[in-house]
Amino acid sequence: MTDTIDYARYDRVRPIRWTGDALELLDQRKLPFATEYVTCSDSDAVAGAIHALAVRGAPAIGIAAAWGAVLAARDIDAEDAAQAAGLIEPALQRLNAARPTAVNLAWALARMRAALLRAQAGEGSDWRAALEAEARAIETEDLAANHAMGVLGASLIEAGSGVLTHCNTGSLATAGFGTALGVIRAGVAQGRVDRVYAGETRPWNQGARLTVWELQEDGIDTTLIADAAASHLMKGGKVQWVVVGADRICANGDVANKIGTYQLAIAARHHGVRFMVVAPSSTVDMGTASGELIEIEERDPAELLASGGSRTVAEGVQAWNPVFDVTPAGLIDAIVTEKGIVEHPDAASMRVLFGG
Ligand code: MRU
Repeated sequence: MTDTIDYARYDRVRPIRWTGDALELLDQRKLPFATEYVTCSDSDAVAGAIHALAVRGAPAIGIAAAWGAVLAARDIDAEDAAQAAGLIEPALQRLNAARPTAVNLAWALARMRAALLRAQAGEGSDWRAALEAEARAIETEDLAANHAMGVLGASLIEAGSGVLTHCNTGSLATAGFGTALGVIRAGVAQGRVDRVYAGETRPWNQGARLTVWELQEDGIDTTLIADAAASHLMKGGKVQWVVVGADRICANGDVANKIGTYQLAIAARHHGVRFMVVAPSSTVDMGTASGELIEIEERDPAELLASGGSRTVAEGVQAWNPVFDVTPAGLIDAIVTEKGIVEHPDAASMRVLFGG
C-alpha cells in the first residue's frame, strides 16, 4: 500500500475557469457527450447557471457564486468599499437565491461580504481586487481541503474494499479532486479500494452522466448500478463502505445530500456496511441545529416525466421532485472534513471539531 498520491493524474477536469473578465463554467447539462463552457459576463448569468445546474455540487456553486460577486463588483459604480457593500447587496441576494439547500453558497457570499468589510476597514484600498483575491482563496482552499480529506477518509477504508457512491462529488462538483470521490481516488491510489460502484442518481443522473465519466477519465474502473440495485449490492457483500458528499451538515451531525442518500444509509446500516460523509468545513452549518430545519429544494416535476428529452410518463400524471434528503446523524459512521474526522457524529462530537 502506498501513501503518496499523484494529484496531477486526477487534475483532468476543471468545472470553473476565471478568465480575468468572465467566468467560464463547464456545462454539466451536456456532459458526457459534449464538453462546452458557458461564459458568464455578469453576476445574474452566474445565478442563472447555478439555478439551471450548468454548475452544480455544493462546493462548486459556492466558488461560482464568489466569482459572481467579483462580476457584480464590476457593474457597480462606488467610491469606496462602504458604498460598494450597499450597492452590491441586491446582486449577492440574487446569487444566494439561486439554490436553497447547499450552505456553501451562503457561506461563500458571507466570505465575500467580509472581504469587503476588511477593505472598508482600510486593509487594502482596492476593494475590487480584495474581492477577486477572496474568490481565488475560496477556490484554492477548496482544492487543498479535498486533498486533505482524500487521505483522511481513505485511512478509514481497509485494503481490498468495495465502495458505493451517489450523485457526483468529484472534480466537477468542487475546485478539483472531489470530496467523496477524492476519498475514492485516494483509496484507489493507495490500494485500499478495489471495487467502485456508482448509483445512477435519478432523476438528473449525476452518477450515470458525470461520476462514471470522471472516473473513466482517471482510468478508475467503475460499475454503474440502478439506484434501486443498492440494497441488493450490499446484501451480496460487494461493498464495505458507502461514501457520499453533503450539501449541508447540521450542528447535530444530520446531513442533507442528494435525494436517495437517506435510503442508502438505512440500507447500509441494515447490511452492516459503513457510511461515510465527506465534505469541507464550508459545508458545516453549526447555525442549523438539526436536519428538519433545512430547506429541501424541490425542482420541476418535468425532470421525472421525461428521459433524455423524451416523455416517458403518460400525459396528465403528477410527480413530486425533492432533490435532497436528510440522513440522520445516527446512521452515519464518519463525517470526514479537512479539519478532521467526526466518528458517530452527534451534537457533542460536532462541537469538539467545529465549536459552538
Ligand atoms: O443537485 P446537485 O447535483 O448540485 O447535488 C449535488 C450533491 O448532492 C452532492 O452530493 C453534494 O453537493 C456534494 S458535492 C461535493
